[in-house]
Amino acid sequence: MSASGAPPSASPRGGVKYGRLLKPAVFILCLLPLVWLAWRGFTDDLGANPIEAVIRFLGDWALRFLLIALAVTPVRIMTRRNEVARLRRMLGLFAFAYVVLHMLAYIGLDQVFDFHAIWRDVVKRIYITVGMSAFAMLTPLAVTSTDRMVRRLGGRNWRRLHRLAYLAGVAAVIHYILMVKAGYVQPGIYALILGLLLGVRVINAWRQNLSTTFASAIAAPK
Ligand code: HEM
Repeated sequence: MSASGAPPSASPRGGVKYGRLLKPAVFILCLLPLVWLAWRGFTDDLGANPIEAVIRFLGDWALRFLLIALAVTPVRIMTRRNEVARLRRMLGLFAFAYVVLHMLAYIGLDQVFDFHAIWRDVVKRIYITVGMSAFAMLTPLAVTSTDRMVRRLGGRNWRRLHRLAYLAGVAAVIHYILMVKAGYVQPGIYALILGLLLGVRVINAWRQNLSTTFASAIAAPK
């Protein structure tokens, strides 16, 4: 999955110097939270409620990776460093993987695969409903993240579909806000970051529109 912007096949191939090392280095970095979680489990360092700790830890990292994936295009726009775009698909897929693990921890560890209880939760607890809708939005993005799917859908449709990543981000932040009973600082920070990322995209789209309008106005026959 790519969070937004150009399809993976259209990613620039520049930045050869970094290119070789950047991707594997980021891949290893993305695995570190899981290693840390495994270490905490192994050393009995998950606190009084280890199941809750695992679900929350994975939820936190799912949201962080989602925001990091969404940050790729704004960072590319602001720094003009096109090589960062090559990381977008991998970061998006890591976000999805952490969401799946987060959800599996809830289904398997918390609800012990009691699907009646899970359904009751989905219907009754609004934050679970919203979390599920975020997951439902991310799934088609993960499924269509391959070059083959980009070709099948066509770049335009693919880009349109992948705008869902922003909606999934909004749903994920709402899921978090609805979940907390007190202490809105942390979800508030995530909401602010998401707002800034969306803002950069909106301003950029507006600037592009404006320059296209000017260009066609200049080119128009008098
Ligand atoms: C994009 C999808 C999702 C993201 C980014 C996400 C993220 C989060 C975050 C950040 C938290 C709060 C962690 C904390 O307090 O530090 C959380 C809590 C939680 N999430 Fe999600 N979530 C997602 C989807 C889901 C889904 C699909 C489910 C289950 C069906 C789910 C179930 C839960 C539960 C049960 C908690 C509360 C854990 C507890 O306090 O015991 N989430 N999630």
